[in-house]
Amino acid sequence: MKNDVKLTPIQILVHGIDINMKSLESQNDALGLWAKQLRDFGVEFEICSSLTDEVSYYLDFNGEQLSLIDLKKSSKLTLDWAKELKSHLKKRYAVTKEPLFRALKLKGDDLAHNQIIDATMGTGKDACLLLSFKCNLICFERNPYVFALGLWAYLQACASDDEMIAQAFKNQMRLEYGQAYSSEIPAGYDRCFYDPMYESGKSKTKSALSRKEMETFKELVGSDQDQATILSELCKKFKLVCFKRPLKAPNLELPDDSRCQKVVYTGKSTRYERYFIP
Ligand SMILES: C[S@@+](CC[C@H](N)C(=O)[O-])C[C@H]1O[C@@H](n2cnc3c(N)ncnc32)[C@H](O)[C@@H]1O
Repeated sequence: MKNDVKLTPIQILVHGIDINMKSLESQNDALGLWAKQLRDFGVEFEICSSLTDEVSYYLDFNGEQLSLIDLKKSSKLTLDWAKELKSHLKKRYAVTKEPLFRALKLKGDDLAHNQIIDATMGTGKDACLLLSFKCNLICFERNPYVFALGLWAYLQACASDDEMIAQAFKNQMRLEYGQAYSSEIPAGYDRCFYDPMYESGKSKTKSALSRKEMETFKELVGSDQDQATILSELCKKFKLVCFKRPLKAPNLELPDDSRCQKVVYTGKSTRYERYFIP
């Protein structure tokens, strides 16, 4: 995680709303619900009508949408998970040929079997792909800005006009602020998907974000330099860990005493390494 940026409290700049928190909900249901949940998750934030501190990033609410603003790059990132899921469903994947589906040992249309921890929610793009593969998901994110943005995208998707899409998010997905390896995990969730930010930051992994959006996201999150440690912790906690890497990234070695074996599934720009105890 980046350590040169003050991460909390997050500043949330709202336009056209009286920022008295008590009346927030009555003025804007969606923002009120989101702010309440954010507080319940323990994320520190302050809602303001002008930026009060020197910040590089803030969340901006324009009355309808919440976006992450990168002041240095003058760019913004907005997430739309309902649209993301719809676009995956339209593609009608031949799932058994999808490397992610295979690496996680999923079964077609079997929600009871497909219970997956997404340890690195990020933009939620992979989570939406997994939802389209008919998974039940618990998604973890440790960066407060990314979590807050994801929570907004999640609540918006749960309130989608498309009932089938709304139900998929409400029934199949849950968000958690923090880290999967150190959290209590419900029974049945013994497979984990781990996709940290690649160290060099120059990954050629295909992304659904535009280049500027991707840069904003990478700048904010930095590279996840603890990934060897986290991978090893996840391998201790879960029966199966699927580690997503750029195709040409060097191997990450597990500690010598790890009993895990590894199988690799390759996609066009990505490889999925499945770690498991045989
Ligand atoms: C490469 S990005 C996200 C990729 C994600 N699959 C997507 O579709 O956007 C990695 C994200 O995981 C988060 N992250 C990295 N290590 C984490 C950990 N140990 N626990 C929780 N979140 C983590 C980062 O803050 C970042 O938002």
